[in-house]
Amino acid sequence: MKKIVIGLSGASGSIYGIRLLEKIKEAEIHLIISESAKKVIELETDYDLNYIKNLADYVYDDSNIAATVSSGSFIFDSYIIIPCSSSTMAKIAVGISDTLISRVALVAMKERRRIIIVPRETPLSTIMIKNMLALSESGVIIAPAMPGFYSRPKTVDDMVNSMVGRVMDLAGIENEISKRWSHP
Ligand SMILES: Cc1cc2nc3c(=O)[nH]c(=O)nc-3n(C[C@H](O)[C@H](O)[C@H](O)COP(=O)(O)O)c2cc1C
Repeated sequence: MKKIVIGLSGASGSIYGIRLLEKIKEAEIHLIISESAKKVIELETDYDLNYIKNLADYVYDDSNIAATVSSGSFIFDSYIIIPCSSSTMAKIAVGISDTLISRVALVAMKERRRIIIVPRETPLSTIMIKNMLALSESGVIIAPAMPGFYSRPKTVDDMVNSMVGRVMDLAGIENEISKRWSHP
């Protein structure tokens, strides 16, 4: 069974992370939720934190730098930070690992593991763009929260699912929500 580590940080769009957790059917899920993410979840969704935690097999405190997932000896298939705040992205880009979310990313980078980051911010400052470039050059997949419209979404849910489906494809997780393009 695949092992997926998921970090929820404090960017808007916590629903993307929650939906990803809901849609993964066959994987061992390790979840880290930052303190800011908890705040944003409370402000922009009606989800209960315990409901979200229960979608994972293992949950770690973002301050727990000694958690199992913080070590290079912990083998996993993909690490997805969704949504990824500009703050967390900046930390990873310059090598700061003072939270578990950033620590796992830096360890995963040195171990050459698959990392997918889903930033959400607009507009983007030059610093943010430079950080994305630095991460992309280090092999990190940058998948900004930019749902497509070619599948003609009718609801916000459709848009969330289309984004989450793309992320699952990138992580090699089987899913039925990714809309495959075929010319009409
Ligand atoms: C309601 C709300 C929405 C936010 N939205 C964003 C956002 O879309 N993108 C972003 O980079 N930061 C956003 N932030 C700011 C981050 O939460 C803040 O930078 C925080 O320090 C990130 O911490 P973390 O990366 O450890 O989760 C938002 C904050 C709040 C309260």
